[in-house]
This record gives sequence, structure tokens and C-alpha cells, in this order.
Amino acid sequence: MKLFLAPMVGRTDKYFRKLIRLMSPNITLFTEMITVDSLLRGNFRNYAIPSNQHPIVAQVAGNDKNKFMQASDILAKMGFDEINLNIGCPSSKVVKGGFGACQIDNPDDVASYVRSILSCTNLPVSIKTRLGLGYEQNLESIEKFIHITSNAGCEIFYIHARNAVLNGLSTKKNRSVPPLRYDDVLKLKNKFPDLKIYINGGIDNLDEATHLLNIYGGIMIGRKIYDDPRFLLELEKKIFSFDNNLSTPSIVKKYINQLDFEERNNKLYALKHLTNLYKGTSLSKKWRKYLHTLINSDKPITDVNYFNNEENHGEKKINCSHS
Ligand SMILES: Cc1cc2nc3c(=O)[nH]c(=O)nc-3n(C[C@H](O)[C@H](O)[C@H](O)COP(=O)(O)O)c2cc1C
Repeated sequence: MKLFLAPMVGRTDKYFRKLIRLMSPNITLFTEMITVDSLLRGNFRNYAIPSNQHPIVAQVAGNDKNKFMQASDILAKMGFDEINLNIGCPSSKVVKGGFGACQIDNPDDVASYVRSILSCTNLPVSIKTRLGLGYEQNLESIEKFIHITSNAGCEIFYIHARNAVLNGLSTKKNRSVPPLRYDDVLKLKNKFPDLKIYINGGIDNLDEATHLLNIYGGIMIGRKIYDDPRFLLELEKKIFSFDNNLSTPSIVKKYINQLDFEERNNKLYALKHLTNLYKGTSLSKKWRKYLHTLINSDKPITDVNYFNNEENHGEKKINCSHS
């Protein structure tokens, strides 16, 4: 059984990954998407992967096989466990750059990237993609895409179970308007029984998660985990029988304690991903307001109020003032 954190630009940065690993030892982490150009310019290179972050997958995007080769060499040396190609991003900026979802129509090119990467690293190469482009729901293009890229050596596919619509829909709408088609992912799984085909898209409750896990052997979740990180504790318990039993204040405390000096000084980034930790409790609004005030104050991050009454899990009693 595999659980994956979906790559999300602006969200699955090193801070959020630290928070997530604290709550879930079993989830496989993904970075945000990074372009090969940006990687080759040197961005990201002095990131040292904390030892407890494994397994961690680097997601890359691009359209030049030589750059993919150089980028994957860097990523392998950095210690990533898998290299994932983003062939699903519908953003107009990304598509203008000639990569992302539009590459579903260029399977031979993508296959050449896969081959290039495999020629220079021992890391597995995977692909995250969608069921197709536009509103057409037949699976011909994606089947051809999987056929060609798997022949090149890609054995793992994460399928966001909807199409990408590249003209006329915003990136955000592309995550809700094209209908979810889990059954079509199952058709792909049955068509390619030797490949690992995992499902992604719209998974937001325990029953659905376990149901899909039983069918696909692996599920990838993004927004539900970001919007309600404690959902991960429930997933851990249900899927891996691991009871972390962490109260929200102790999560906050452990999280702050594991930040390094530089990260602590980057208060906005370090704290913004904690915003939804009290989701669904009576403290939710007060906590968000409290974090906002702390971020905009001169106080150091270590001043954070852990809502420190561990016994009531910080959910009944609140003291937002620094006493
Ligand atoms: C804010 C945001 C940023 C995203 N950035 C990426 C990205 O960098 N790479 C990618 O492959 N998908 C990206 N996605 C799509 C997610 O990985 C995922 O496929 C999508 O949200 C559907 O899964 P979910 O319903 O569990 O959120 C992003 C989604 C969101 C909400």
C-alpha cells in the first residue's frame, strides 16, 4: 500500500514536507515542480535532504533531453529517490514553455527524456500525467503515451483522473471542471498490468482513500492534506495501523524544534503551512488569526504559542496571549 503527497507549487516546499513527515512516516513526499532550466541555473542545489524525508521524489519539467540528463545527475547526487516528470500541468505559462500537459501529445519526445535520464542515473523515472487533453474522453492518446514511454523504461505512472483543458480553463478550474474518471484509470491499469499505475484526484475522505488503495495499491493526495493536515494522522492509522497520537500543540512544537536557524528566520514560509492545523475544530479561526499576527510581528518564531495544554489536545482551551 502506497500513499503519496501530490506535488504542489507553493505548497510542498521544504517546510511543508517537514510538517508532513512529522505526521506521517509512511507517506512518499514529492517536491514542488521544478524546471530543468531552473535546476541547472543552480536553484535548489544547496538543499540538503533531511535524513527522515525519504522516500522523496523530485518532480521536474522540461523539454530538452540533454538538460534532463544534467538535471537528473544533480538530483541523484542530492539523494532523491525517484525522478518524476510533470506531464500534467495545464498552466498557460507552462504550456507556452512547451512542457507540462501538452507533452501528452509528444510521447516520443517524453520517451527520449526517460531514456536519457535512465542512461545517467540508477534512479527510477516516473511520470505524473492526466487522462488526456480537451474534452474528448477516449483513452487512445494516453494509452499510446503510456505504451511508448513505458517501452523507454518508465514503469510508474501517477494519473490525475481527469483531462487537462489547455484553452479556456484556468489552472485552478483544471482541477475541478474536467470530470473525475476513476474507472478510466482502472482501464489503464488493466491494459498495462505490468506497470505501477497509481491514482490521484479528488480523494478527500477515508472511505474513498481505502477503497481506491485496495484497487490501485497506491493513492496520491494533494489538496485534502494541505487543507486539513491532520487527515494524515487518520490515514496513517487506517492504512498503516500507525497511531501517531500527536496532539496539535505537540505537532507545532516538534515542527518548530526541527527547523534550522535559517528556516526559523524565514517566518512567513515556516508558519504559513501551519494555517490549517486546527481545521474543523473550534480553534480554527483563532489559530489562523494568531498565526497571521505572529507572522507580521517582530517576535521570533520560537515565541509561538503551542496552545500548550496537551491534555485537551489544544482544542477546547485556547490562550492566544503570550503569558
Ligand atoms: C496549489 C497547487 C499546486 C500544484 N502544483 C503541482 C505541481 O507542481 N506539479 C504537479 O504535477 N501537480 C501540481 N498540482 C496538482 C496536484 O499534484 C494534484 O494532481 C491535484 O491537485 C489533484 O489532486 P488532489 O485532488 O488530491 O488535490 C498542484 C495542485 C495545487 C492545488
